[in-house]
Amino acid sequence: MDKPVRIALIPGDGVGGEVMAEVLPCLEWVKSRGRRLQSLTLPYGADHCLATGETLPEAAFAELRDGCDAILFGAVGDPRLPGGQHAEAILLGLRQGLDLTVNFRPCHAWVSSGQPPFDLEVFRENTEGPYCLQGSTEPGRAVDLAIHTESAVRRLLQTAFQRAEQLGRPLTLAHKANVLKHGHGLWMRVFDSLKPLHPRVSARGMHADALLCALVQDPSPFGVIAADNYLGDLISDLCAAFIGGMGVAPSLSWAPHRPFRCSALAEPVHGSAPDIAGKGLANPVGMFLSTALLFRHLGWEPEAGALEAAVSEALALGARTRDLGGTLSTQAMGTAIRDQLPL
Ligand code: NAD
Ligand code: IPM
Ligand code: MN
Repeated sequence: MDKPVRIALIPGDGVGGEVMAEVLPCLEWVKSRGRRLQSLTLPYGADHCLATGETLPEAAFAELRDGCDAILFGAVGDPRLPGGQHAEAILLGLRQGLDLTVNFRPCHAWVSSGQPPFDLEVFRENTEGPYCLQGSTEPGRAVDLAIHTESAVRRLLQTAFQRAEQLGRPLTLAHKANVLKHGHGLWMRVFDSLKPLHPRVSARGMHADALLCALVQDPSPFGVIAADNYLGDLISDLCAAFIGGMGVAPSLSWAPHRPFRCSALAEPVHGSAPDIAGKGLANPVGMFLSTALLFRHLGWEPEAGALEAAVSEALALGARTRDLGGTLSTQAMGTAIRDQLPL
C-alpha cells in the first residue's frame, strides 16, 4: 500500500483562514476516494507571532522540510505587524528555505471574460532577485540587492520551455536587460541557450514594459510568460485582473530538483486582504484552484480535474461572491463549489 501523503496546512492571517476552511472538506473528499493523506495544521501567522514572538521556528521548518510532502497555504500579512517581518519569515522563509524555484500562476478564464477567453500561464522565479532581502538603508541612500543564480534561472526557464512545448503555445521572457544588464543579461543568456533544445517553441524575449502594454491591448498572442521574481509578481496580478481579480487566481510553487521531501506549496495569489477579513466576503475560488494544482502535483489527476470542473460548474450556475458581482458569502461559495464534486 502507498505511504500516506503528509500535507501541512498553514491558514495564516486574515482571509487566509477563511478560504482555507472551505477547502478542508476537499481533503476528506480525496480520502473518501481512496487517497492516503494525513494533514497537520500549523498555527504560524500574526496571532501566533504576537502571542509568542515566534515567526517560523527552526524546528517547525525542519519538520515541514523533512517530514511533510507538501504545504497548503492561506495568506500572511497583518496590519498589527506593519513591518511584515513575520510574513517575510514564514512565506519567503518557506519559498527560499525549501528552494521552491518555480511559481506557476495559471490564468484561465474561469469566469467568462473577453473573446477569445483569456488563457495564459505565468512562470515566476520564486526565490531570488530582490527577494534575497539583502540591502541597507543608509543616510541619503538605500540599497536592495537583486541576486540571480544561473542554476535557479535555468530551472525556471527549463520548466517554462517544457510547458510551452507541451501546450504548443509561444513562450515570452519578460525582462529589462536594457537596464538590468547583469541580472537580466544572465536571464537572456540562459534563455538563448535553451532555445535550440526546444526548436518547436516559438520563444522570444520582450522588454517587460512593452510586454505589459501589449498584454493589455491583446493578450491572445501570449501563451506562457516567464519572468524573474519581481516582474513575475507584478505580471501575475495584472493577469489575475483579466480573469476576475485577486480572488480567483491560483498558484503552485515547487522545486523541480527535489532537494527535500517537501517539494511543493500551493497558495492563492492573493494576500490576507485586511480590508475584507472577518466579513465572509473573501472569494475562495483561488484557494480551491490552488488545491487542485496541489492534487495534480501529487499525481491525483482525476481529483484535480474534478475540483476544477466543480469550480467551473458552480460559476456557470451563477455562484458569485461580492468581488464577482454576486452576493454569496465565502462559506456559501465554498458549498456551491463542493456541491458539484462527484461522490
Ligand atoms: P491582497 O491580495 O491581500 O488584497 C488586494 C485586494 O484584493 C484587496 O482589495 C482585497 O480585498 C482583494 N482580495 C484579495 N483576496 C481576495 C479574495 N479572496 N476575495 C475577494 N477579494 C480579495 O493584497 P494587499 O492588500 O496588497 O496585501 C494585504 C496583505 O497581504 C499585506 O500584508 C501583504 O503583504 C500580504 N500579501 C500576502 C500574500 C501571501 O500570503 N501570499 C500575497 C499578497 C499579499
Ligand atoms: C505574492 C505576494 C508576496 C510576493 C509578498 C506577500 C511577499 O505578493 O505571493 O505574490 O511578493 O511574492
Ligand atoms: Mn504578489
